Amino acid sequence: MSDLSNKKSLTALLLKYKYSVIVGLLSLTIVDLCQLSIPIIIGKVVDILTLENSTYTDLNKYALYILLIATLMSIFRFGWRYFLMGASRKLEQSLRNEFFNHLQSLDFDFFNKRKIGDLMARTVNDIETIRMACGLGMIVAYDGVFLLIFIMIAMLYISPEITLYVFIPFPILGLVIYRFGKFIETRFGKVQESFSELTESARQSISGIKVVKAFVVERDEKNKFEKSSKNYLNQNLSLIKVWAFFQPFIAFIAGIATVIFIWLGGMKTITMDITLGDFAAILIYLTMLSWPMMALAWAYDLIKRATASLNRINEIFSIKPKPEELPTINEFKLKGDIEFKNLSFSYNGKKALDNLNLTIPQGSTFGITGRTASGKTTLIELLMKIPDVPRETIFINGTDLARISKNNLRKKVIYIPQETTVFSGTIKDNITFMKPDIEQAEITRVTKIAEIYDEILNFPDGFDTRVGERGLSLSGGQRQRIALARAILFKPEILILDDVLSSLDLRTEKLALQNIVKEMNGKTLIAISNRVPSISGFNQIAVFDSGRLVETGDHSQLMSNQGIYASLYKIQTIQ
Ligand SMILES: Nc1ncnc2c1ncn2[C@@H]1O[C@H](COP(=O)(O)OP(=O)(O)O)[C@@H](O)[C@H]1O
Ligand SMILES: [Mg+2]
Repeated sequence: MSDLSNKKSLTALLLKYKYSVIVGLLSLTIVDLCQLSIPIIIGKVVDILTLENSTYTDLNKYALYILLIATLMSIFRFGWRYFLMGASRKLEQSLRNEFFNHLQSLDFDFFNKRKIGDLMARTVNDIETIRMACGLGMIVAYDGVFLLIFIMIAMLYISPEITLYVFIPFPILGLVIYRFGKFIETRFGKVQESFSELTESARQSISGIKVVKAFVVERDEKNKFEKSSKNYLNQNLSLIKVWAFFQPFIAFIAGIATVIFIWLGGMKTITMDITLGDFAAILIYLTMLSWPMMALAWAYDLIKRATASLNRINEIFSIKPKPEELPTINEFKLKGDIEFKNLSFSYNGKKALDNLNLTIPQGSTFGITGRTASGKTTLIELLMKIPDVPRETIFINGTDLARISKNNLRKKVIYIPQETTVFSGTIKDNITFMKPDIEQAEITRVTKIAEIYDEILNFPDGFDTRVGERGLSLSGGQRQRIALARAILFKPEILILDDVLSSLDLRTEKLALQNIVKEMNGKTLIAISNRVPSISGFNQIAVFDSGRLVETGDHSQLMSNQGIYASLYKIQTIQ
């Protein structure tokens, strides 16, 4: 299955950076070996001091060793940190990019069901947890295992018998760590879940702050947020309890091992089975032992957290963009009538369009009007295949839209939605997008048609004014008209405008639409407008009400109908 191949595991992620990881682990190994040799040297020094006929030269030799070791350790400490931490940062970045690209590929439906805050928490927080496990987690795990094994070997080398006794309490520790691992994983899953809720709650109140203030519901919002925040705290506290138990427990086990050793090792030293130097070396190894144990528990904790986060990431990775249901035609000519046949559509069970039948003839100018929430935008979004289109309901030139690929459709049909964004760059970049070698005369011409030319000239740097993220912020209407200029430049087969000129006054809107009609020159133009007079000159006008098509015809037919259209026209031309 393809969705298995996409599932991430910590090892697979690390393997992508195997060279950095290998160099880093080698450096870490050298540092550890240096560290491990120190107790042996100290043991030797103690023996020199306590045994007879030892000399200064011996002492000097060992002092020099220690100096050499200290130098090596500083160099290789830099090495492991640079390579291992560096690899984990690169891994984090590439995973986050991949995750983000995957999100971008998902359907409309997915975003309709998911909470934005939750997705943000996964993109930021869960991926950070994975990075922690791959960097810090791997380092402490390797360090812990390596030191533990070598300390045991070194101790066994000095005195196998003592070592075996000293290690008696350790299997109990192993068992406890193992039992708690699963516990940490589930608890941490809950922590991350509640962080998702917290992020979503913050996102909702921040993005809706104007509404919140307008309706004076700040207190409700505050309570909601505090609730999520408290829940996050409680989940974290329960995780802290686990550690609060863990750490003293490890120290206690290490303490017991030392007790065993002082008693047993002391006896052996008295009976001269081992030297005082051996006693000192083992004692130092024992004090060194609590770090690898702590490290292993810590690594286990980091890895278990990352496993929980990885599950959350993999859950999203396993969701695939829905393939287009039918085999689609890629090179379909989009010239021809657009027909809607018995089209009904619902959002999560709520009907937005009800049994609609409508034909938009090739090359015509087609106006759509109606109250808000009457289904106008839904109709157009279906035509653009933004939500999934039911089969055999929309046809272009007689071919089922379900069979026409999205790619092909969006190459020739341009739709300017009610909400458009500009990208960071200059106004000019935004207009000439994908066609950078357009001449200024042409840019001037299309911006004049889109009724944005004069406004652009009034911006601080004219066409070179920066907009978007760190530039001038444009009004919704300005953004739409810039998108419109870009669309005109593009010469689409079908142009669809969703209330694009409503920020202009009625007269200017009407004039602009007339210019666009001229520009489209026999290609299909569909324009949604709340202001009837501005589309009254169109070949045909459709009036929507509560998801139904209630009137169609040209201006004179609709006027003689004396329905919604006629009354709107009268009201809107009075002023
Ligand atoms: N993405 C969506 N999810 C759920 N309901 C939606 C969505 N988009 C629109 N609706 C609902 O569908 C109905 C028609 O909306 P829409 O097509 O946007 O109307 P109009 O463009 O005429 O204002 C409304 O009741 C609206 O609340
Ligand atoms: Mg709308």
